[in-house]
Amino acid sequence: MPTTVIIGAQWGDEGKGKIVDMLCEKSQVVVRFQGGSNAGHTIKTKDRETVLHLIPSGILHEGTWCLIGNGVVLEPEAFLKEVDDLAAQGIDTTTYRLAISKKTHLIMPYHKLLDRARELKRGGMRIGTTGRGIGPCYEDKAARIGLRAGDLDNPDLVREKVERALQEKNVLLRELYKFDPLDPETVSGELLALAPRIVPYVKPVEDYIEKAMEQGREILFEGAQGVLLDIDHGTYPFVTSSNTVSANAAAGSGMPPSSLDRIVGVVKAYTTRVGSGPFPTEQLDDTGTYLQTQGHEFGATTGRPRRCGWLDAVVLQHSVRLNGITEIALTKLDVLRNLPVLKICVAYELDGQRIERLPQEEGALQRVVPLYEEMPGFDQDIGDCTDFDALPRKVQDYVLRIEHLCGAKVSTVSVGADRSQTILR
Ligand code: GDP
Ligand code: IMO
Ligand code: MG
Repeated sequence: MPTTVIIGAQWGDEGKGKIVDMLCEKSQVVVRFQGGSNAGHTIKTKDRETVLHLIPSGILHEGTWCLIGNGVVLEPEAFLKEVDDLAAQGIDTTTYRLAISKKTHLIMPYHKLLDRARELKRGGMRIGTTGRGIGPCYEDKAARIGLRAGDLDNPDLVREKVERALQEKNVLLRELYKFDPLDPETVSGELLALAPRIVPYVKPVEDYIEKAMEQGREILFEGAQGVLLDIDHGTYPFVTSSNTVSANAAAGSGMPPSSLDRIVGVVKAYTTRVGSGPFPTEQLDDTGTYLQTQGHEFGATTGRPRRCGWLDAVVLQHSVRLNGITEIALTKLDVLRNLPVLKICVAYELDGQRIERLPQEEGALQRVVPLYEEMPGFDQDIGDCTDFDALPRKVQDYVLRIEHLCGAKVSTVSVGADRSQTILR
């Protein structure tokens, strides 16, 4: 059975949730391998819209195992809220099908405070984080002082780790950021109060993955954010704090990399970005507003308006190369309807030179001028198309042009938010 990695090929919010949910009709296991509740993955069905932050987007399919890997950073309260919200809708969120790795790091209240304090202090240079404590939690993981899900059944260890962490954090909070310090007893007490509900979910996830492979089950790895937000390969420093590239599906879950077969890059038919940082094809005019309105481009996690612009093939080629994308799922094609022309950025000009790759020097991407090719727009409603050949010729041409520019097959075309509005090629 193939194992599939699904990643966002741009700056996030490409429609990964929809594609994962769709592929789950066949897959029996879905694994999140990085990020945390900074993610917002939307699934739309006939009767409801569900936004998932931590729980894998396979949860709406009965019988699918949903695993949270070691590479994720998990806020206990956010996890339990998501579990309760889903359970209230009648969705099975029991420990029979949902598990957290013992090695998954926990987001603590001081991580969220530090995230916000740093952003405030940066002022105009802020990253525009989601404020979910993602960066500070990964910092503690790298500094080897983090709390992990597997610690939760050991109250003494929890108290000792919180005490040690707060010795440092309280100095920062009080002296540098002028925030009130946190009381270690209160912080560990609040966490330990949640522990009895979390501990039953905590399992050796990599053993489950190994077992699933032995049983020949199809496994899906669900990425969060997008390649341009990758801590190494993204638009540093305006990035998130984890590796979002496909390779991290292995490290972030315990799956051997040699077992990853198929890499699906989810590509939005135009580009959006939330938060600060360079965005060469951003449109600050009517086109940007049109895309934002038609595409309902508001963050699924923070509700912030998403910045919008044309498709950027330089970005996509970067993603295809770095991730070994074997196929593309192209989403939100319907949003482009009624635009007179469709532009695709095929290269940049940097300091008078034409370049076809993302510049690596910090700040250079802010200075590039996008070079576009133009294609005719379309005005037909494509939301009901179920067959590629039934799409208007101009739409087909746009898809085929993307395929050609990226060098990867567009295997899936999404023409609406609903589960059913999907064309397989
Ligand atoms: P993710 O973070 O990559 O899972 O994406 P989000 O859920 O944050 O944002 C994608 C948004 O677009 C959601 O509101 C989806 O319901 C919606 N969506 C997904 N595919 C399509 C599509 O093909 N057309 C339209 N109009 N909306 C879509
Ligand atoms: P999904 O999985 C879009 C952005 C934030 C900010 C930067 C760093 O729904 O595609 P962080 O809180 O991670 O430290 O913020 O990354 N960001 C996202 N943008 N979609 C996401 O997730 C994002 N997760 C983080 O806006 O610019
Ligand atoms: Mg999202």
